[in-house]
Amino acid sequence: MGRPARRAVRDLVPSLIKQEELDLVVANAENAAGGMGVDIKSTKELLSAGVHVLTSGNHIWKKKEIYSYLDEHGHLIRPANFPAGAPGKGWYVWQHDGFSALVINLQGRVFMPNHVDDPFRCVDEILKQQGEHSPVVIVDMHAEATSEKNAMGWYLDGRASVVFGTHTHIQTADDRILPGGTAYITDVGMCGPLDSVIGMEKETVIRGFMTQLPRQFEVAEDNVVLQGIVVDVNQASGRAREIRRLRMHWEAAH
Ligand SMILES: [Fe+2]
Repeated sequence: MGRPARRAVRDLVPSLIKQEELDLVVANAENAAGGMGVDIKSTKELLSAGVHVLTSGNHIWKKKEIYSYLDEHGHLIRPANFPAGAPGKGWYVWQHDGFSALVINLQGRVFMPNHVDDPFRCVDEILKQQGEHSPVVIVDMHAEATSEKNAMGWYLDGRASVVFGTHTHIQTADDRILPGGTAYITDVGMCGPLDSVIGMEKETVIRGFMTQLPRQFEVAEDNVVLQGIVVDVNQASGRAREIRRLRMHWEAAH
């Protein structure tokens, strides 16, 4: 969520990579620029902090400059189930030092603003075409409804190493390893200010609910956290061994 989150990522991710011995860092960047959309500057900031692959969601189309960036840079992906012809791709094969992972971005259809294609059939098609690249498969299911994310977790159990939800910004407490070996959480939570309504200035959002008038949201600044998950995956089988939730507080004085 905007600048506070980008600073938290810059200050916290490098040490997190060392401490946890992370091979791959994936972040959803759809609100990295001003709390809505992603631009080239914020993409570069996140990559230089150590993030390897950036996923996104419904706000990916907000900044026009990102359209050509999506076509030229595979490490930023958008939901795969947007209609054919949309800029960029919905998956990326990340490779480094003999380790590879197929990262897939999907968007849900329940209570979402875009009429995207079926994410379930879409992920089947990607796995059929790209699945041989790596047994490690990481799926960001960007969706509003817990039921749709939960269903995707079960649908991919045994076929994906990790299925994590994004979009709702509120971290859920249902992290677990499903019977087939897929690490699952309904929402990893946002990187951003906790003293907010899903990252935005709370007063403006409350006023919006009460008046029903159009309003301009600003990213809040207080009580910034980096939230997410750490997953341990067997690289040979693609099965997850452990999933753990993260919530790290960030101080501006860092
Ligand atoms: Fe979203």
